[in-house]
Amino acid sequence: MKKERESSSYRGFIFHLHPPKVSEASIKFNRTFGLGGMALLLFVLQLLTGLSLRMAYVPTPAEAYDSILYIDNEIFFGGFIRNIHYWSGIFFVIVTFLHFVRVFYSQAIFVPRRINWIIGMGLFILTIFSNFTGYLLPWDQLSYWAVTVATNMLTYIPWFGDWMLSVIRGGNDVGSATLLNFYNFHTGILPILMVLLMIWHFWKVRKAKGVAVPAENVKPRVPTNSDLLLKELVVGLILFAFIFLLSALFSAPLQERANPAFSPNPAKAPWYFMGIQELLLHIHPFFAFIVLPLFFFAGLMWLPFAIKEGNQGTWFHSEKGLKLAIQAAVLSVIFTPIAVLIEDFLLHFELWMPAAPNAVSEGLIPMLLLLGSFTIYLWVIRKKYKANIYEIIISLFTIFIVSYIVLTIIGIWFRGEGMQFIWPWQN
Ligand code: HEM
Repeated sequence: MKKERESSSYRGFIFHLHPPKVSEASIKFNRTFGLGGMALLLFVLQLLTGLSLRMAYVPTPAEAYDSILYIDNEIFFGGFIRNIHYWSGIFFVIVTFLHFVRVFYSQAIFVPRRINWIIGMGLFILTIFSNFTGYLLPWDQLSYWAVTVATNMLTYIPWFGDWMLSVIRGGNDVGSATLLNFYNFHTGILPILMVLLMIWHFWKVRKAKGVAVPAENVKPRVPTNSDLLLKELVVGLILFAFIFLLSALFSAPLQERANPAFSPNPAKAPWYFMGIQELLLHIHPFFAFIVLPLFFFAGLMWLPFAIKEGNQGTWFHSEKGLKLAIQAAVLSVIFTPIAVLIEDFLLHFELWMPAAPNAVSEGLIPMLLLLGSFTIYLWVIRKKYKANIYEIIISLFTIFIVSYIVLTIIGIWFRGEGMQFIWPWQN
């Protein structure tokens, strides 16, 4: 009897995370692919393994590396727990990114979900920073130089950049103050902020009566049932099995102890910033690090306030939207590497216009070329396919996302010593 009551209150709690009634259509797996739920599970896994690691980790340059060695080699299952933390961290970034992309493509960004869209953007940024602050903690060559390269990018921010760099690093270089700052953010401030934002996020999903479905499918509404929970359970178990298997087979990296006097060549930023590092090779930092990311994030936040509600819940807005998104993705996969090669080997505005400031020859001019090609493409799809504003925005979003992924792949696998081109197998 007691057991029954316990299990029913547990079920009650899980049910409570959902609205009491949801539209029948929203229960289908291909509505959300369970991505939000997976992000939550990965976050919980991060918290649990992170708390265990915290017990043995020492956040000082003298002891951090040794404490990681101790966790890996001396503590019973310590290495396995560290591997789970590492892999669930990577997949937390990937799954959150995919959830963000699915929310956008299913057009769940308008009223009554637009505030949740903004909260989600906040969660996405915190997810990246959470991973980034954890990156430094092993205090090996990989983490030390990745954080040095990535924080150096802050100096590209006009007026405030140097100040921000010294606040984040707690001094001029990456050192003991940086490690302590990152440790406090990683194990305290960021997780707390994320828990608070997640509570708000889930409450907003409930308030919006569940996930977005096309207007014609809003009814019939059915009670949230065990079928939905069963699907969620299956997704959760597969996810856990996958992370555990990866952690058993592949260890979290640990190179030699950090040596601030010796920089590896190439020194690369963490993988999710590699797209920016690659872009910095082609376009002036002011545009690569500030104008483009700001345009992307601010534009996405402003979008549901700027245009009227579209076909909320309809993937890609329409059949045509889907076709145009596929077309934009294919073109981005083809033209991003071509643009990278052309810029590397053929375009040398800085040599052709020696009198012009760098911001013009390496910034404004490539930017205008880029914007010009975007505008021509969007104009063509407007004229040729009679695309509406939503379909144009979906195409633009796809170009940004796919190009960033291609730049990331180039940066990770196709750049070697001195950031020169190499084939991945020459690495
Ligand atoms: C950090 C982790 C996050 C967690 C744990 C999380 C969790 C969830 C969950 C469980 C749902 C319910 C439906 C689903 O599973 O998709 C949801 C919906 C939603 N999320 Fe997230 N989310 C996160 C990040 C984000 C991000 C990055 C965005 C967008 C930038 C976002 C925007 C939304 C919106 C607008 C909805 C409502 C979607 C709809 O009604 O179809 N979330 N989230």
